[in-house]
Amino acid sequence: MTEHFTLRDYDETVAAIRSRTSHTPTIGLILGSGLNDLADTAEDTAIIPYAELPHFPATTVAGHAGRLVIGRLAGVVVCIMQGRFHSYEGYSLQQTTFPVRVMQRLGVRTLVLTNAAGGVHPDLAVGDLMVIEDHINLPGMAGNNPLRGPNLDEFGPRFPAANRVYTRRLRDLALQRGVALGLPMRRGVYCMLAGPNFESPAEIRMLRGWGADAVGMSTVPEALVAHHAGMDVLAVSTITNVCIDALESQDEPSHEEVNAAGKLIVPRLRALLLDLLPRLV
Ligand code: HPA
Repeated sequence: MTEHFTLRDYDETVAAIRSRTSHTPTIGLILGSGLNDLADTAEDTAIIPYAELPHFPATTVAGHAGRLVIGRLAGVVVCIMQGRFHSYEGYSLQQTTFPVRVMQRLGVRTLVLTNAAGGVHPDLAVGDLMVIEDHINLPGMAGNNPLRGPNLDEFGPRFPAANRVYTRRLRDLALQRGVALGLPMRRGVYCMLAGPNFESPAEIRMLRGWGADAVGMSTVPEALVAHHAGMDVLAVSTITNVCIDALESQDEPSHEEVNAAGKLIVPRLRALLLDLLPRLV
């Protein structure tokens, strides 16, 4: 499996997409699994299964659509990844972020990311929408970074800054619109862990002390690669569970709990995204 892609690889995928649609999307959406139906409401669409795109990783997770949907949503031409790649599935971070660079070469200037996350800050409750204002890249600090390997200068510099990954204007806009829509908006620091296990109580206490407000298993690699390539980034976590920090707790986080809460939150996130999209162009 290719570890490092070349500019030519990205452009071969872009050419394959261009041969299937005349749309030029300027906004990209990578959504947590619960929100994949949003793509089904897009109009005037080109739907391209990942399997038909060169260099795209093959999806492994059962029940995930695994296709790129390019079309109009809330009147805006968007490129939606229906099904995202996670590192815990066994992909390299270069593979999980391959579609981000493809979107950039396709003309996408703003990337919107959403995820399911566990609340670490005591003020966060299930159902909250947390606008990510900064992150802790734990896999990156341990040497697993999507920008590792030969730098492609066409995208960005060898040593990119990471202090303004999440575009201020978009964070402010999302908070302001969310509040106007009556949604439980929060802001905070998202910490990425590789997964697939949920965190131990000691890890949660440690992460809280380090300044993490929410934890999850995605988003940071995609945000970093987008920022490196000069894209604006908006990322929103949906809080699906409260992380367990007590050893003797009888509760246990589970995928079922995350999915059930995700379902509750989907209408909120959908309302926010549909309201925001026309304001992002
Ligand atoms: N931890 C990590 N990832 C998650 C969680 C969590 O508690 N909830 C949803 N995704």
